[in-house]
Amino acid sequence: MQESQPTPALTGRPVISSTGLFTPAETITNEELVAAFNAFVDRHNAAHAEAIAAGEAEPLAYSSVEFIEKASGIKARHVMSKAPILDPDVMCPRLPERANDELSVMAEIGVAAAKQALERAGRSPADVDAVLCAASNMQRPYPAMAIEIQQALGIDGFGFDMNVACSSATFGIQTAADYIRAGNAKSVLVVSPEITSGHLNWRDRDSHFIFGDVATAVLVEDAAIAPAQHWDILGTKLKTVFSNNIRNNFGFLNRATPETEGTADKLFVQEGRKVFKEVVPMVAQMILDEAARLGIDPEGLRRLWLHQANAGMNRLIAHKVLGHEANEDESPTVLDTYGNTSSAGSIIAFHQHSDDLQPGDTGLICSFGAGYSAGTVFVRKAG
Ligand code: COA
Repeated sequence: MQESQPTPALTGRPVISSTGLFTPAETITNEELVAAFNAFVDRHNAAHAEAIAAGEAEPLAYSSVEFIEKASGIKARHVMSKAPILDPDVMCPRLPERANDELSVMAEIGVAAAKQALERAGRSPADVDAVLCAASNMQRPYPAMAIEIQQALGIDGFGFDMNVACSSATFGIQTAADYIRAGNAKSVLVVSPEITSGHLNWRDRDSHFIFGDVATAVLVEDAAIAPAQHWDILGTKLKTVFSNNIRNNFGFLNRATPETEGTADKLFVQEGRKVFKEVVPMVAQMILDEAARLGIDPEGLRRLWLHQANAGMNRLIAHKVLGHEANEDESPTVLDTYGNTSSAGSIIAFHQHSDDLQPGDTGLICSFGAGYSAGTVFVRKAG
């Protein structure tokens, strides 16, 4: 019989032990997306030709590949259900409802990302104390997605859901870090399954290109039990400021039904220009203030893993923080292939672009989005 190792004395110092990523197999390119959108526009305008000719209705306008790439930097996105999204008569994902005894789809992709994070840390689920499911949209109100993920992984402990839109993952990381700091847990999984294709209005020209689906996981642990390869969390900071500029009114009291007029506000809507103008200075200042509090020289940051909503926003924020135009190595982009994946974006960037950093290198994971909400997690590679 194997002797069980005694648990080392906990330090109360939170670290990131590993991350995991699940990427849906299907992708939609801008070309495919625009072709489907423009086919919908043709059908809509033909169906309303009389009203348009009489000046009673405005014709819908075409979308364009060039606009999308120039305005956002997005070239493609992964999705869970491609064909119905591209069908001009449907234009939304169709994910069949599963029976209550089957793993739900959101839990399934969360579990896939979580398993990878556990594997990369050499961690057994038995060692994990808690699961936070932190995402923009939950598949159902209860039982919590986190508890289903906990059960599927075989974790003995507790789990709960939290939603802070695009900042859900960084808010989850701080919450997990606080459990470690307080000694209430030694190992916490923050899972962010983002099936954003379900809240996107694929018929809205202003935003139909924005989002993509993905799931990420971050394993936050006490330094005492972390694997040799890990990231020390130097400090976390959260901020929220109420704004209606990004909003989704869907909820159990406000449902979109076929009978309801104006279902568009039961999906994602935004004033993109205002978001851009208001969020960039707020986030840049927050990063600089937090760096000062932690005694970190922002110009010495080796890499920024920023929220992936818009390439222009990231360029501006990175410039304000680093004091010069950031290159791809300093501020990597995953937007081009993933689109905006809500809270998962900065974690994908970290997952894919952190192995090459050296021990002692300091970087920043930063999210921002609806609420408004923003979160910073300063990390340093251990070793
Ligand atoms: N295809 C072609 N043209 C389009 C278009 C499309 N799909 N969508 C809009 N346009 C046109 C508009 O009609 C407008 O034309 P006009 O100048 O003749 O009036 C022009 O392009 C500019 O539109 P606008 O919506 O103001 O574009 P923008 O340059 O502000 O870019 C966003 C739009 C959404 C990409 C950008 O504002 C953004 O990314 N904002 C931040 C979003 C964000 O981070 N949100 C957080 C979500 S979590």
